[in-house]
Amino acid sequence: MHVIVVANQKGGVGKTTLSGHLAVEAVRAESGSVVLIDTDPQGSLSQWWHERKAETPHLAQIEPAKLKAQLATLEENGIDIAIVDTPPAVTATNRQVIALASLVLIPTRPSPHDLRAVGSTIAMAEEAKKKMIFVINGAAQRARITGEAAISLSQHGTVAPVTIFQRTDFASSMIDGRTVQEIDEKSRSAAEIAELWKYVYTHLLK
Ligand SMILES: Nc1ncnc2c1ncn2[C@@H]1O[C@H](COP(=O)(O)OP(=O)(O)O)[C@@H](O)[C@H]1O
Ligand SMILES: [Mg+2]
Repeated sequence: MHVIVVANQKGGVGKTTLSGHLAVEAVRAESGSVVLIDTDPQGSLSQWWHERKAETPHLAQIEPAKLKAQLATLEENGIDIAIVDTPPAVTATNRQVIALASLVLIPTRPSPHDLRAVGSTIAMAEEAKKKMIFVINGAAQRARITGEAAISLSQHGTVAPVTIFQRTDFASSMIDGRTVQEIDEKSRSAAEIAELWKYVYTHLLK
């Protein structure tokens, strides 16, 4: 089973948004049986999931302290991909979760504050010797800082060649438990998510 942990100690960078969107995309792309896991006590991802009408991706209720055993059970039950959302913090729990990752996905907004804040998340993933993929999220159109952010992040790991732009539908689609692809599969946001998933999935299989 592949375990994608979505982490960044900073809040508001798109961890929950991308967890939900990538899980829906993994199902749409028929990459396997997909489960979402919410380790954030705020529970935003779980709340979104409970608004959903679609049955997939699944949501697994877990206790972070028992995550290892619970992942093993999910694997026995035929789950191929687990996408784990995490709280914005540098805690022992987040370290334990990252230790179980096949891949750590680090969404970052292209701003100086966000780039400065990402260091401790990189350190956690490096300590655990995990593959990292950075995703630039919430980029403005034609902003030079997006390219600069990619260059600075690339010194620490792989930067996804797909940028996720700031688009209202990423927020609005989630109000009633959906995602951009489920609102309009031909939208640019949907295309960005499809490309991002393709890239992440290829890395998982490497
Ligand atoms: N690409 C984007 N375009 C527009 N809004 C976004 C985008 N990514 C995230 N958001 C919005 O930004 C806020 C923070 O995103 P969220 O996924 O909750 O971040 P985190 O889980 O890292 O705290 C939410 O209101 C979300 O809807
Ligand atoms: Mg969140």
